[in-house]
Amino acid sequence: MKKLLITLLSVGAMIAGVAQAELENPGGIGGVESLRGASELESTRPADDFKKFPREQVLESDFVYQPPLIPHSTRSYEVSLNANKCLSCHSWKNAKEMGATKISVTHYMNREDAVLADVSPRRYFCLQCHVPQANAKPLIENEYQRVESLR
Ligand code: HEC
Ligand code: HEC
Repeated sequence: MKKLLITLLSVGAMIAGVAQAELENPGGIGGVESLRGASELESTRPADDFKKFPREQVLESDFVYQPPLIPHSTRSYEVSLNANKCLSCHSWKNAKEMGATKISVTHYMNREDAVLADVSPRRYFCLQCHVPQANAKPLIENEYQRVESLR
């Protein structure tokens, strides 16, 4: 009996939810409003410009052991079963010649902390942890502060 009551109540809540959603959008043209501005369904908003990654940008860490932000574009850099574009510059073998930072020894460690002869599968998909930083202005104010020890 209790179970039935709960079911009935939640179905009721669902119907109320649907009705409310309809009321909030009373037959308008419809569109999407976001922090990047509003656009209506029947007009095509021009595409945003590609983001720039200034060569001289210096990206500091906000907390200890943070995966460093990527200061350059990663457009069309393939990371797949067949190829890892990032390693063509960042591996220990290639870093010096390419003038890139070499990946640190942690990238060669497995989860038992054994150092492997090649990049650990845990660290193969670089963009899982590292993200590129463009010179994009924050869309909303951000009061985040870096940890005390890095200020
Ligand atoms: C063509 C060579 C090249 C490729 C490919 C490349 N990088 Fe880089 N990367 C560099 C160089 C050079 C730097 C040093 C900073 C600079 O000059 O932009 C750098 C800097 C970085 C840094 C910052 C290191 C630090 O010490 O703060 C990270 C993180 C990074 N790259 C990650 C990546 C990832 C992830 C990929 C693949 C999606 C990638 N890179 C592909 C050349 C490359
Ligand atoms: C599981 C998360 C993770 C993955 C995946 C990962 N990294 Fe990192 N990376 C880190 C962290 C955390 C650091 C900073 C601490 C350290 O060196 O371990 C770092 C540091 C770096 C640095 C700076 C090294 C230095 O000495 O300053 C480079 C360059 C880098 N990573 C490149 C890469 C590339 C290229 C890949 C893909 C092959 C990759 N990382 C994959 C987490 C990751």
